[in-house]
Amino acid sequence: MSDQTTTIVIFGASGDLTRNKLAPALADLYSKGRLGPEVRIVGVSRSDMTADEFRAFFYQGFGQDSEFPPAPEVWNDLADSIHSCYGDVSAPDGLRDLERTLSNIESPGTPANRLYYLALAPFLFAPAVETLGRAGYQVENGCWRRLIVEKPFGVNLETAEELNRVVHSVFAEHQVYRIDHYLGKETVQNLLVFRFANAIFEPIWSRNYIDNIQITVAESVSIAERAPYYDRAGVLRDMFQSHLLQLLAVVAMEPPSTFEADTLRNEKVKVLKAVRRISAHAAPNLAVQGQYDGYLDEPGVPPGSRTATYAALRLDIDNWRWQGVPFYLRSGKALSSKKTEVLIQFRRPPHLIFPQGTSGDITSNTLSICVQPNEGVHLEFQAKTPDSTLHLRPVNLEFHYEDSFGGQEIPDAYQRLLLDALNGDASLFIRSDEIEQSWSIMDPLIEGLSGPSVRLPEIYDPGTEGPFSADDFLARDGRAWVGKCVGD
Ligand code: BG6
Repeated sequence: MSDQTTTIVIFGASGDLTRNKLAPALADLYSKGRLGPEVRIVGVSRSDMTADEFRAFFYQGFGQDSEFPPAPEVWNDLADSIHSCYGDVSAPDGLRDLERTLSNIESPGTPANRLYYLALAPFLFAPAVETLGRAGYQVENGCWRRLIVEKPFGVNLETAEELNRVVHSVFAEHQVYRIDHYLGKETVQNLLVFRFANAIFEPIWSRNYIDNIQITVAESVSIAERAPYYDRAGVLRDMFQSHLLQLLAVVAMEPPSTFEADTLRNEKVKVLKAVRRISAHAAPNLAVQGQYDGYLDEPGVPPGSRTATYAALRLDIDNWRWQGVPFYLRSGKALSSKKTEVLIQFRRPPHLIFPQGTSGDITSNTLSICVQPNEGVHLEFQAKTPDSTLHLRPVNLEFHYEDSFGGQEIPDAYQRLLLDALNGDASLFIRSDEIEQSWSIMDPLIEGLSGPSVRLPEIYDPGTEGPFSADDFLARDGRAWVGKCVGD
């Protein structure tokens, strides 16, 4: 980072995202010495939050990767850099107080870099960008100006294109950082390293050796108080359009020539383009949906809501590498445990030399990337059980972060993403065309899976593995869900 002053301006500073994610991430970065003394943080909100109230988010935020309570000198220095002011991004003169605050903390005559973080309700993204544009906040003149936009970026292709249009009318694409926090997870980054820093996996990473790929993002939490957002989004918008498609892109993309934002994102866009589009008509045959029992009783959920809290679907990728390899994606809330896993199931040996019956039912090899929790990688293969004539059984070769890296904390995704945005590295952020590709995959699916003529989502019991129809769905293809990672 340069010596120039940098101001992080958080819009929506009194909200849960700031309290639970951004403030802790910034506090930990500060305690690790990764936010220099030249960084200032300004919280902007429509509430009357005082600077002390805003500072309290940071104080409480110490602890994940750092000491709690922080040493007084660490805390005092950081506290001095934290400011707050009133601001309303939807009002014409809504940035008046911010203007005053910025002129007090940024040195006159030396343009300060600025990172604007839209931690706002999604309907405010476009008005906020327009307000920033009218105030000239995007202009880079001897400094940089960057914008982080949270998810959801639109609710379908049309709204995402419109939001991109508004964003691009003010900011250039190189200034825009669209967040998908899954990309900031240590294990997701490690997937890139696993694939592209090891020579042994690449030759088998294709239809020649792989039978199918399963991506699971299971959550034990319910929707809690989020009905106003969630009931309109449902699991397909909330999880699939963003996190699951990003995981798929990282697993399936071609090797980029360099680890640079645009080369990396070009490859992700290529593979998303190659995902076979499912028509609305075909969608009910390529997906199942579920709703946890009790969803309708959550505060704010409209009576009779058909919103799915679980979905499983099959996607195919039409290119040389993946032709004929189904990608099965599933995600749901109120399940038995929290677990994100990418499981590669290899083909069975083409010919078995071992006599039937002695070798049991030989399962195919699997490679599981445990994204969270219990981060690691498991490779399962067959071994002969000792002192048997010829009895085989699957065994595991395992790598766990905890063992290999001496129990070192795995930082929250937001730490990495905030630091990358400050350093101008957009590799782990989503480009406008990537967002649009993702919506163009999801839109017909969502359309085909909603509406009164479509089967209601199957009700499943909270604390289970989800709807039974998800198992039948894979059984139809002669397959079954396989999970090797341990959830929480
Ligand atoms: C968010 C979704 O993007 O990701 C939430 O809106 C979901 O519904 C969350 O619970 C999951 O994130 P993580 O990091 O807890 O797996």
